[in-house]
Amino acid sequence: MAHLRVLDLRVRYRSARGPALAVDGASFELASGGQALGVIGESGSGKSTLALTLMRLLPPGAEVSGSIHLGDVDLRGLGDERYRTQVRWRRIAMVMQGAINALNPVLRVGQQVAERLLLEGVGRREGARRAAALLERVGLGDGAAARYPHELSGGMRQRVAIAMALALEPELLILDEPTSALDVSVQAQIMNLLKELKKGRGISMLFITHDLALASDLCDTVAVLYAGEVRELGAADDVLTTPRDPYTQALLSSIPRLYGDARPTFLSGSPPDASAPPPGCRFEPRCPAAFAPCRDHAPALVAVDSGSSARCWQYQAPPERAS
Ligand SMILES: Nc1ncnc2c1ncn2[C@@H]1O[C@H](COP(=O)(O)OP(=O)(O)O)[C@@H](O)[C@H]1O
Ligand SMILES: [Mg+2]
Repeated sequence: MAHLRVLDLRVRYRSARGPALAVDGASFELASGGQALGVIGESGSGKSTLALTLMRLLPPGAEVSGSIHLGDVDLRGLGDERYRTQVRWRRIAMVMQGAINALNPVLRVGQQVAERLLLEGVGRREGARRAAALLERVGLGDGAAARYPHELSGGMRQRVAIAMALALEPELLILDEPTSALDVSVQAQIMNLLKELKKGRGISMLFITHDLALASDLCDTVAVLYAGEVRELGAADDVLTTPRDPYTQALLSSIPRLYGDARPTFLSGSPPDASAPPPGCRFEPRCPAAFAPCRDHAPALVAVDSGSSARCWQYQAPPERAS
């Protein structure tokens, strides 16, 4: 059981408008044995790119730099063949964004779960037995294995996708917006399943979401991503109750509250284009707290009191005036 350490990770796509830096200098750690790191951010902030990088499933042409260690294994140093046979699905598995719509419509779900085991050389009968056990583990008992995806609800299909990811007993599970296509009550059931897997099975999770409440429910630590950069990183209790970064603050104050008289505030504007980010702080064009240095100078991610880190000039000495 090893822990994940990501250092200064950068991922660049080629696009028609020039290179797009989708992940820019991300560093974080995730302990083993049932810890969850929430990766929070708006659409386009680089969350899926980060996940696909960890799975080594980026499209051809994407360039990666930085280091990724799982325990003492340097994952970036492994060849593709060893990654495929030793890491992907075995040690790190993922439930892809939109997985509930990606099941094979003409295969019974039991067969789909068994398929990953058959690829590992497990026999047919044993594969079917283990597939049924996996489906049971995710709360799909009696007869689910014999059903086709269209016979199952969205929540049940998400459970199938989770069972497939668990097939080879990974120590780290990446979940890319696993509940965003589900209605609230079904969402809660999937969250309960994840909590059970985390606590009961000791599986560590990288939980990707744009929903702070969900992250707060499951995660021990959170990383808030904006335009490819980590804006704030720390204990979930800390970051989600007393956020230091103006972007995290804006995200939190956009959530409707049941109590108190503060109305939710809308965060207007949209994140910058990844192929042409602003020269200074990337959040500056939308930031209510922006001041002199923000427009032209990019702040670093620095430790603030309470042990978390934030990327904001409020917490670090502004640059010397160059002009
Ligand atoms: N295959 C790709 N080719 C070029 N650009 C991409 C590709 N996939 C994602 N991007 C760009 O990378 C950025 C991050 O995307 P993504 O990781 O999907 O964000 P998120 O999951 O947070 O919505 C976006 O600007 C997106 O347009
Ligand atoms: Mg995504």
